[in-house]
Order: sequence, then structure tokens, then C-alpha cells
Amino acid sequence: MNAPTESVLLSNEQDALWYKDAIIYQLHVKSFFDSNDDGIGDFPGLISKLDYIAKLGVNTLWLLPFYPSPRLDDGYDISDYRAVHPEYGTLHDFKRFLDAAHRRGLRVIIELVINHTSDQHRWFQRARHAKPGSVLRDYYVWSDTDKKYDGTRIIFIDTERSNWTWDPEAKAYYWHRFYSHQPDLNFDNPRVIEAVLGVMRFWLDMGVDGLRLDAVPYLVEREGTNNENLPETHTVLKRIRAEIDASFPGRMLLAEANQWPEDTKEYFGQGDECHMAFHFPLMPRMYMALAREDRFPITDIMRQTPQIPDNCQWAIFLRNHDELTLEMVTDSERDYLWQTYATDRRARINLGIRRRLAPLLERDRRRIELMNCLLLSMPGAPVIYYGDEIGMGDNIRLGDRDGVRTPMQWSPDRNGGFSRADPNALALPLVMDPLYGFEVVNAESQARDRHSLLQWMRRMLAIRRTHAAFGRGSLRFLYPKNRKVLAYLRELDSETILCVANVSHQPQAVELDLSEFAGRVPVEMDGGSAFPPVGQLTYLLTLPPYGFYWFVLTQESDGPSWHTPAPEPMPDYVTIVLRNQLADVLASVAGIELARDTIPAYLGKRRWFAAKDQSLQSARIAYLARLPGGDRELLLSELEVKTDGKTSRWMLPLSMVWEDEPTAALPTQLALARVRRGRRVGLLTDAFSLSGFAHQMLASLASGAEIETTEGRIVFEAAPDKVELLQRPPDSQVLWLSAEQSNSSLVVDDAVMLKVFRRIAPGQHPEAEMSRYLTANGFANSPLMLGEVRRMDNEGERFSLAVAQSFVRNQGDAWTWTLDQFNRSLDNHATREANEEARHDDIHDYKEFAATMGRQLGTMHVVLARATDDDAFAPRLAGPEDVATWVERARASLDRAFDALAQRTTWENEQVAAEAQEMLAPCWAVLPGAARQA
Ligand code: NOJ
Ligand code: CA
Repeated sequence: MNAPTESVLLSNEQDALWYKDAIIYQLHVKSFFDSNDDGIGDFPGLISKLDYIAKLGVNTLWLLPFYPSPRLDDGYDISDYRAVHPEYGTLHDFKRFLDAAHRRGLRVIIELVINHTSDQHRWFQRARHAKPGSVLRDYYVWSDTDKKYDGTRIIFIDTERSNWTWDPEAKAYYWHRFYSHQPDLNFDNPRVIEAVLGVMRFWLDMGVDGLRLDAVPYLVEREGTNNENLPETHTVLKRIRAEIDASFPGRMLLAEANQWPEDTKEYFGQGDECHMAFHFPLMPRMYMALAREDRFPITDIMRQTPQIPDNCQWAIFLRNHDELTLEMVTDSERDYLWQTYATDRRARINLGIRRRLAPLLERDRRRIELMNCLLLSMPGAPVIYYGDEIGMGDNIRLGDRDGVRTPMQWSPDRNGGFSRADPNALALPLVMDPLYGFEVVNAESQARDRHSLLQWMRRMLAIRRTHAAFGRGSLRFLYPKNRKVLAYLRELDSETILCVANVSHQPQAVELDLSEFAGRVPVEMDGGSAFPPVGQLTYLLTLPPYGFYWFVLTQESDGPSWHTPAPEPMPDYVTIVLRNQLADVLASVAGIELARDTIPAYLGKRRWFAAKDQSLQSARIAYLARLPGGDRELLLSELEVKTDGKTSRWMLPLSMVWEDEPTAALPTQLALARVRRGRRVGLLTDAFSLSGFAHQMLASLASGAEIETTEGRIVFEAAPDKVELLQRPPDSQVLWLSAEQSNSSLVVDDAVMLKVFRRIAPGQHPEAEMSRYLTANGFANSPLMLGEVRRMDNEGERFSLAVAQSFVRNQGDAWTWTLDQFNRSLDNHATREANEEARHDDIHDYKEFAATMGRQLGTMHVVLARATDDDAFAPRLAGPEDVATWVERARASLDRAFDALAQRTTWENEQVAAEAQEMLAPCWAVLPGAARQA
């Protein structure tokens, strides 16, 4: 079952916008896995870990520089553009890696570092010896003074004093934006552009899918400017892009431009420069929102983020191999972030913080998850930095940014399973402290722990992957009054995703204006739970500290099974004037008018009125029967309704509540009209909504009452020996289960369920009939039948009006429970290796449950199969015709399943595709489906 994940990758031409849906995993070959025990990660090692990466659920890899280099800037100081650092492997290894990645559905982005080379690069050595002013000399930027371009900031302020360094050999200063051993290439020299294009072609020919353009704002220098984002630099980039479009369609350029959004936008050009660019300013603002417990930094920067061309995409990230840069915040914001996230001064470097995600958030799982949720749901392609998926720590005692580049922690074994070398020989030491050390934090243990961060990441990535709206949809913020809650919509075509996040450490409630989505059902995307449907009023959500939700606002789904929508009230009321009893008034002209003017609209709003699709021609109150006893006038009544020439009967018990009486919401929600007696006003309502009705109905059953009506006799009949159960104290509690299903049910005293049938038809109601028979014949596993209210008309026809049954406390129904079990198994399946045992347990539980149900059904059928004088229940032997009908039904449902399978053409990966093919294979022809025979 744990076969490597092979996946079909569409070619870059077929899927030219693949980067819009990219989920990127950034890693350092050096620190990922060492295959030959020399202490340094390598390509064969990376190949052996590709299944881990594929299983994580990303679809793109970004490799830090792996070229020959003195590694004084960890490989960004390249000394040969067209080879692999011998310690990482060979070009052949790289190609094998590329193929292996592609086979797993992973695209590969590598670094194109063209702003500068190492001073060890052949081009630089050649340049320093070449004649001043010659083409070879001018591969780099030289000057006789170090005063040129003095409007240019220094980036590595902790180590560099100037952007110029004196070269004694050339007897001139050379220009560098980063370390002094990294001379900048001179893009005013056409030969440099050609050389760089040559390097680019070299790797694209090999099949890499994308190139990250390192430090791209600094390509060209001009006096009197700050030498960032110059138009000439954009010209160079357009030239590079033209080459891609001409010879490598479907490949991607990703700009590293640590700039404000409006400046970064320029790197997309008119869709004719870079395909992607990092959104640098968003990153620190996510941390800021958390630190200040205020969504504003995020909404503010996103509001300032311009639209980008359709064929472009942002790359967003929480952490990477560099310091968490604070260049794109104000000075006071930087101080604030430093004080919050880097109290230990050793964590600060240049204008940033050299820490990984987990230590920044102090291992607080809630905050780690929250930040990842933002990362996965903000517009753009998310980049996950290797090790952050397991909450790896860092080592701020190491030099430069090495502390966030330590070896991947695979297992609790020696060197964290990264290498079998002598620990002293490792390129960088493993993290070994008691909180983050490899013994505590490692991939192997987390793969076995279904509650681990790794498993959580896999789940979230699976969700992220299957909803294009995250990558491609629009972004719209909602601005609820509570600023600690960030809420936004991601919309694409007909899909709307609602994301809600609490950026504070306290539980929060939020009221969202979702009225434009009234009627939609929010389905939470992790667990699949349906939330109550959206209405016209604000939507209330509560969130735990750092809690968040992703919902699909579904059109189709039903609301949650436990949710009872509030009944829809009448828009306005007519007033009925009472002189004497309600029954008298309703029997007069006022009743006729009510039936004519009000009842049609009232019925239109009732869920139980099943004839809403037909046009209603007339309605009348057929009879009114006052329930005996009690102070309140409670009337049983049936409405006779004519629709499309058909006549139907509906039970609508009626009563009144006075304005000055304390009442619950239901009587008001179900009111038909206003009533007035003298100065006292109240509402005419569905009596079912009043507890007195429940009590009177039970009391009438217990006393065996009978009421004469114009339409025959209403008989209250208790089941033999059940009278006591029906006698409930007059103040016993009433709980309404459903006022508005096809029937209306309530529970009295936690013991008796009263069900009022709404549609009244001649004959016994099957529910009354069946439950009476089962109770009478001693079947113990259905609710006891306690009594029935029926009307016997003048011709002797019987009409069931209501039943009382014993109430069985329950935790829901078998259907919902089964679906829940099924969903949970699916979840387990997704985190399979963690959970082989637990999954068996699920099935085990379900088997027990199914067996119990089978046994109960069996006993019920034993009762039903007994010989009896009651014609309606006399058993009949099933004949060949019955069997044929059953077979036909089974066949039809199999056909539907096979059809669905056959129609589907795209599958998650090859393994699933093969399984589907297998199901469609001829060997299944034994199944009786027509689709099988076809
Ligand atoms: C940007 C890279 O991300 C960083 O690691 C490097 O130090 C500079 N470019 C200079 O090469
Ligand atoms: Ca090695």
C-alpha cells in the first residue's frame, strides 16, 4: 500500500500556467540527505527522499544553489554556472533527480544567480587580468574611486562597509551589492547578457521547469539613482523572458525582488517579464498581525497590492533560507517585530531575524497552524521551507544564516538520520537542544503520530491542492467590526471559500456580513462539517485563540442535520377582533376571510406544506375542535386546500397568545394573524408551538377523550397499559424537535414524543400502524406506541391525526453516524502509515455496529413474519417477481457507480488511475450491471 507516489505530470506546454497552482517546497541539497556518509547532503540523497516530499503534498521543488562555489555565501557565490558542486553529486545525478521528481508529479525550480558571481569565477579572474576597457574586463563593474553610485544602500550591513572593493590585481574598485567576494556582473556589456542567456539555456535544455532570479532589482547601475528597479534592469529581464517565450514555453521565471508591492509589480511587466515574484512585504505583516493581535497589517498591505497580469502569480512565504527580512517595514515596525520575535540579540542579522518558523512562534502549535493557514490561503503560490513542516528549530549560535540551514531531521537516530558520518564531519551540526533537537522533532516520529504537525500539514496541503480558488481566485476582505479577526473570501468561478482567522490569544466572536450568500451552507473544509446556513442577518462565528476556519460556501449542501432553520414569519398581520371564543370567531366570516386572505401565504412558508409547487386555488377551515380541559382555548383544525384541481387536508391546530404573556420565539414565528379583545392584543398562532397544547393532547389521550366535530368524532385512544406513561405533570418540560418537518414533533418530560401529522389522509398512518403492531407483539427495540389521535368521519373512515410514542434518548441517526465513520476512515487513510491500527479499529467499530443493526432488523422480521389475523400484517412469501425487482434495483445502482467511474478521466495519481481501470476490467462482468455487459 505504501508504493511510491507516481503521478502524471502534464507537460509545461500543456499546462503553461502550472505555476499558478504551485505549492513550493524549498530545500538545500546540502542539508537534506547525505547518501554517501561524507556529512554533506547530495543529489542521490535527495532522490531517495522524493517520496517524502511528494507525500507531503507539494507539487514543486525549489533548490538552493548547488553549483561549484567557495560557499562563502552558501552557494550564492557561484564559481561555475554549468556544473554541480562535486560534494553534491554530478550533472548526471542532477538529471536523475530531475527525472525522478517529474515522475512524482513534482516540478523543479533552480537558482539563476546572475547579479553576481564568486570572485573565484573564471570570468572574474579573467576580468581582473584583462585590459581596462576591454570586453572581458567589462564583464564586471569597475571604478577608479569608491565614491561612484553613492546613493546606493548597503544590504549586508552587518559585514560590508561599502559596495566597492579594491582589487590590487586590476588596480581598480569593483562593484558588489552583497559580499565583497561577490562581484556584480555588468549588464551594460552585451556579452554578459549573452553569457547569462547561455547559462539559462543550459539548464532549461536539461528540463528544469523554473528559475528563481536571485537579487534581480540590482542588475544595472546608473549614477544619481539608488540603483534598484532601474528601467534598464527591466529591459534585461524582458530580453530574458523573450528567450523563454521563444524557446521554452511553459517554463517560469520567479523574481526575488525584496521591494514594495508597486515596485515588485514592475517585475511582471505587462505579463512579459517574470511569471512570478515573491511578495516580500506581506511576510513580516503576517507576523505583525499576530504580534499586535490586529488584522490591519495584512489587510493594509493587501489593499496596497496592485492587480497583476493574468498570467502572473505571487509567491508567498513565511520563512526561507535567509533572515526574516524586515526591510519592507517602517523603522518603528521593525523595532516592534525585533522586540517581539528576536529578544535574543543573537537572533538579529542585518535588517532581519535569523530564526525558523517554530522558534519564532515559540513552538506554539496554534500559532504555527494559524500562520500556515494564512500562507496556504492568501493569494499566491505558497512556499514551504524544508523542516518547517515538522516544526524544526534553529541554531542562532552558528554564523551568518547557517542557523536556519541545518540538516533536515529525519529520525531520532545519530545525526537525526541525515547522515551516518562522524558528527564532527557534518557540513553543519544538527539542532540538538532539548526542545527542538532531532530526538524530539523529526519526520519519522511525526509520520507515526497522527496528531503531529507533519500530518496536519499533509492534510491542509491536500485541501489546498484540490481547490483552485486558493491559487487562482480573487481576494476580497470582509471587515467585521472585531479587528482581531481576519476574514476574507477567495472566489473562482462558482466556488467561494471563506477564510476566518483569529489573530489573538483570546477566544473571539465575530459577526460577518454574508447576506449576499444567504441560503448557502458553509462547509468546513478540514472536517467537512456543515455549519448553519447563511441568512440575511450577520453570521456569528466563535473562534478559539488563534483559531481559524476555511469554509466552502456551498450552494447544494443541506444544512447540518442538527440545525433547525427558524420558521419564516408572515410579513404583516391582519387583526381579528374577538368578542367571545376564538372558535366562534373562526367559525364566522372572520374564519372564511382568514382562510382566503392569510392562509395561502402562510402555507407557502411552511416546510410541511408539500403542495407549494402547485397553485393554490382555495383554502377553508374544515372544522374546529376544542381540546377539553385547560384554561387556554386550543383548537384542533384541519384545512381543506384545493390546488390544481386536487383537494388535500392539512392539520393546523390553532390558539392564541397574548402580548402580555411571557412566550418563547416559536409562537411568534408561527403566527398567522393578530387578535384583539378590547384593549388586549395578541397573536393567532399554530397551537403546536405552545406547551399547553402538548399537555392537553397527552391528557386527552390519557383520559380517552372524544370530541364531536362537524366532520365526525375525534378519538383519543391510549394503547393498552400505557395510560400511566401518558400522565405527565402539567408543568413538565416540553422540547420541540421539529416544528416544520413534514410532521411536527415534540417531547414531553423527556419521556413521551408527540408527533402531529400535518398531511391528513384516509386510512391509518403507517407509522401509527407499524408501531402499534410492533408494540402489541412485544418487539422491544422500537419506541413504544402510547396512543393515537384519530378522526372517524361520518362514513366510518379513519384518519390518523397524531401519535404518542415513548421517547428514546439518542445521539443522532445511523445514517449520519455511518457517514461520520466513513469520513473519519478517509481521514485516517490520508495519514495512512501513521495509522494502520487505528484504521482497523474504525472498521472494527463499524462491523460491530452493522452486526447489531442486522440482529435488530432480524428480530423485527421474526415478529413481522409471525402468523396473524391482522390482514395488513399477514406475512407473504417472496416470489420470483420480488427477487427480480430486488435484482433490478441492485443492478441499477451498480450501473450508476460503474458509469460514474467510466466517465471520470482524470485521477489524482497513476496508482488510483490503475485501481479505477482494474474496477472497469472485464473480470467484474460477473456483476449484473448493464454497463458491465456493454
Ligand atoms: C539572495 C539570497 O537569497 C541570499 O541568500 C544571498 O545571500 C543573496 N542573494 C546574495 O547572493
Ligand atoms: Ca554526501
